[in-house]
Amino acid sequence: MTADVKIQIEREIDIIAARQAGRQLAGKLGFSSTDQTLIATAISEVARNILIYAHHGEIVVGAIEDGPRTGIQVIANDEGPGIENVELALRDGYSTKNSLGLGLPGARRLMDDFALASEVGRGTRVTMKKWRR
Ligand SMILES: Nc1ncnc2c1ncn2[C@@H]1O[C@H](COP(=O)(O)OP(=O)(O)O)[C@@H](O)[C@H]1O
Ligand SMILES: [Mg+2]
Repeated sequence: MTADVKIQIEREIDIIAARQAGRQLAGKLGFSSTDQTLIATAISEVARNILIYAHHGEIVVGAIEDGPRTGIQVIANDEGPGIENVELALRDGYSTKNSLGLGLPGARRLMDDFALASEVGRGTRVTMKKWRR
């Protein structure tokens, strides 16, 4: 099995590194180049949220298996301010920064599995999975 890759997010260039790590692992796991791009895009969005809202945190990408299925898991973790209303944050167009508000709902659509756990004052964790088809 391939080892998990952890990328600290604290500067703009770290988003690119996380994106590349995701794409590279997805390629190694046999995802199509289209899916590699979709995964990289989802990673960009959650990494950017870490940078903007929490200022620092980490992205962990790793291979997962479920019986015969192979997939990729992406965890975005921070100890930032957290999200007051998770349901609202997942709606298209909702943004507390007057930006597009498509990051979380977009990432959710790009991946097969998406879970957002957040606690105000504690931090935010996004766990996403995509299975190879
Ligand atoms: N890691 C995070 N920590 C705190 N708040 C977050 C985080 N990620 C997202 N949010 C909140 O969820 C909202 C929606 O996020 P998103 O869909 O990416 O849209 P946008 O970043 O364009 O505002 C953000 O405006 C912000 O309030
Ligand atoms: Mg965003």
